[in-house]
Order: sequence, then structure tokens, then C-alpha cells
Amino acid sequence: MTTRARLTLDPAFRVAPVEPRLFGSFVEHMGRCVYTGIFEPGHPSAGPDGFREDVLELVRELGVTLVRYPGGNFVSNHRWEDGVGPAEHRPTTLDLAWRTVEDNSFGLNEFMAWTARAEVEPMMALNLGTRGVAEALELVEYATFPAGTRWSELRRSHGADKPHDIRLWCLGNELDGPWQMGHKTAREYGRLAAETARALKRFDPTLSLVACGSSNSSIATFGSWEAQVLEETYDLVDYISLHAYYDPSDGDADSFLASAADMEHMIRSIAATADHVAATLRSPRRLRLSFDEWNVWYQSRFGGESSLDWARHPRLIEDRYDVTDAVVVGSLLITLLRNADRVGIACQAQLANVIAPIMTEPGGPAWRQSVFHPFALTARHARGEVLRVEPESAAIETAKYGEVPSVWATATHDPASGAVTLFVVNRDRRAACDLDVVLPGGLQPVEHVELADEDPTAANSAAEPYRVVPRPGSGLRHQDRLATLTLPPTSWTMVRFAVKE
Ligand code: AHR
Repeated sequence: MTTRARLTLDPAFRVAPVEPRLFGSFVEHMGRCVYTGIFEPGHPSAGPDGFREDVLELVRELGVTLVRYPGGNFVSNHRWEDGVGPAEHRPTTLDLAWRTVEDNSFGLNEFMAWTARAEVEPMMALNLGTRGVAEALELVEYATFPAGTRWSELRRSHGADKPHDIRLWCLGNELDGPWQMGHKTAREYGRLAAETARALKRFDPTLSLVACGSSNSSIATFGSWEAQVLEETYDLVDYISLHAYYDPSDGDADSFLASAADMEHMIRSIAATADHVAATLRSPRRLRLSFDEWNVWYQSRFGGESSLDWARHPRLIEDRYDVTDAVVVGSLLITLLRNADRVGIACQAQLANVIAPIMTEPGGPAWRQSVFHPFALTARHARGEVLRVEPESAAIETAKYGEVPSVWATATHDPASGAVTLFVVNRDRRAACDLDVVLPGGLQPVEHVELADEDPTAANSAAEPYRVVPRPGSGLRHQDRLATLTLPPTSWTMVRFAVKE
């Protein structure tokens, strides 16, 4: 069975410039993301700093631009001081979020050295769960003040002579969630975030601050949390955060493939909530959104934090991703780009081993999961301006989101070269789709790749790291201003068009 769809690419219809910070990731002290993920002293590929070079190479290939650190739930009971100074003097501590024994051999200064090697921007989260304004100020002074004060001199005595260039600070993590150490009501958190923001902006008005939004769209306080938090913080912060994980494990594959409908709903709802608060405060500012945790996560397979025994860097939520998961990840990236006028930051959670595009074995290899590929290709080829693209396609009926269009797409236009790149998914599991693409004049297709497989459950592993890779698309026909291609069932596709020589 084949369906038909049509879309038009027109550089006159722009959404916003492609923001490089949309291709962010997340490194939490959780499971094996840090230890034996990005950091493994003694690994054959690690240098004297303990950073795995094989992982660094994959991070650069993935095209990650920004990395949020050190959590996540971990940060809400974290003492940053435990992770700085001579490694032999650092304490062994208990991380209550993931019931993990933490030796603190990797901390702020190691992370900053790693970001330089990975060529990514750092985004730091502050502990506003069990700590407050004073400790946040001390950390920011330690990290970013040049010299001559108690905390900046302490940093220099730790070998970091120059201040770290950290522009982005998260005011806590998921404090709406009862699982969070130091969980708060919206008013309690809003007041604390406001006072922390006021102090940080007094310290350095150029810092960009992110207030915590909801942890997901099904939590009872979704929407009202943001409204109350922003009533306290609106003119003091630069972003409000959103988090969302999509779970394939309940067997409802049609709804899972339509997960972007929830992401779109979250973005629109929180943008509207922020605009409502701006209106009531008569504020001319338009707040941006930081979607700083998003991904596919087989969450219902995870027994929860209380099921965990105390351990050192245990294997936690090391989900193995298949082709369907990669198509969903591609559709979520499409959604972030489609909303580039509001979403200024996005972080796929997480980077290595923990629900991650990059997997490693301790002492062994590193490899790309299926979800690595749509991220890497989108990060590499989404350039210039995002175009408004509105496909006409068949509809799919889903239990969770009602009717959704089978084809979901975005495109970018690079004004410098005239190139246009289309990113599109076919969420139909049963039918291929013949897609007509109406193009601006003077373009020709130069690359057509897709992620699809006769077996949508195919996945990569240490033994079979290249089972799922992008493959050349076939059967693209092009004449004048019309290109026609076939999207296989459950597929992600990218087509690049360049100006004809
Ligand atoms: O990424 C895993 C966890 O998911 C993070 O620690 C938390 O912020 C979210 O609930």
C-alpha cells in the first residue's frame, strides 16, 4: 500500500534562523555516562586526562554543540566542592538520586577541559534542591571570576588559571517532581529561583539563566507550575525549561511514532503560558524555551530509583535503540526546528550509555546507536533559516494523540549558498508514501539518504555496530520545480538540494 503527500519549500516563508544550540546533549553523573562513558582513565584510547578519545571522536561526529552538566536529578543534592581540587583529596559521597557511590574523580574542571576537547559549549546546572543562593553564587564565582577573590583563587590553585567561559546556568532541575531531592511547590521554587537569579545577574548581568519548567506534560501541575514560577521570575530569567521522554514499551507503536505531537503541544502550551505571564506583567520580553532533556526512553522497563542497590557507576537505563526509535528521534528534531522561533536550546538526554546515541564497553569499543544518525545528519545539514513547511498527507489514527499526519517535515534554507535541505519522516508503519516536493527554481537534488529497514526492530550493538546505518534513498525523480520521492514505511529521510551549476 502507498499513500501520497505533497509539500512546498519556499525560502520566502521563514520561521527563524537555525540556532546551533538546538543540537545540545546532556552529561549527568548517572550510571555510566561519565565513568566508563566519556571518562575512563586506563582505557586504551584514553590520554593522560582520562578522556576516551574514541568517544570524543564520536561526539564531534554527532555534531553536538552544547552539553548540559552535571544533572539531572543528580544535581539536586550535589556539592560541587566535592568534585574540585586534588583528586586524592576528594571525598567518596553518596548520590541519593541514583543510589550511586560517587568518587568525585570527575568534576567541574575536568568537565570544562572535556568540553574544550569535544568543542562544545558548557551549560551548567545549579543545585536549588538541597542548596540555595549562597552556594550558587560561590560556584559561579569559583568558575567564572578572573582572580583575586576567595573562590576564584581556589579555582586557580586547582590548576584552572583562566576563568571558565560558562554563559548558561540552569536554576535547578525538575523541582516540580516529588522524586527530586528538595522538591518544592511552584511558589517555593519560583521565589528561590528569583532570588538566585537576582543575585547572579548582580554578579554578572550577561549570564543566561534557565528557570525549571515541568518534568513532563502529564504531571498534574503542567502549565500552572510554569505560570507561577514565571510570575516570580519572568524578568530575571532568559529561558524556561521543558523535559520530555517518549516510551515505546507499552506496545502502542502508532502513538509512539506520533510522539512529536506531544512535543509540539508542550512547546505551544508553554510558549502561550509564558506570553500570558508577559501580558499580565506588561513585559515586552518574549521568553525562549530550553528543551534541555528530550529523548526516547523505555521508562516503564526501569524499576525506579528505590529498586536500585548502592553501586559504583552501575549500568542504568542503557536502552538499546532500534530503527523505529531513530525515526521518532528524527521526528523530535524536526519538531524542535519547526519551533525554532521559540525554542532556543535543546539537549538530547543523555550523551553516552544512559539512554544515549553513543555506547561504550569498559576497556572496550564505542559505537553509534540507531538514534545517532538522524541527530548527526540534522546537526550537520540544518543550516541558515528554518522554513515553514506544511505537508498535506494521509492521517493516522492514534490512541494517545488522535489523528496525526503521517508525514512530518521541516526544511532549512542557507541564504549564503541557496541550498535547501528537507528533513521528513513517514510515521506510517504499514504504507510507503510518494511525496511530491515543490521546489524553488534553480535547485537540483544532490543527496538523498534515509534511515529505514525491512525490520524496524533492527538495532546496533558492540557485536554488530553497523547493522543500522543511513542508506542512500532510491527512486528520486526531479523535473524543474518538482521532485518526487518515496518514503518507506517507518522512515526518516533527508534530501539536500543545491543551486544548479
Ligand atoms: O535523564 C535521566 C533523568 O530524567 C534526569 O536525571 C532527570 O532530570 C529526568 O527525570
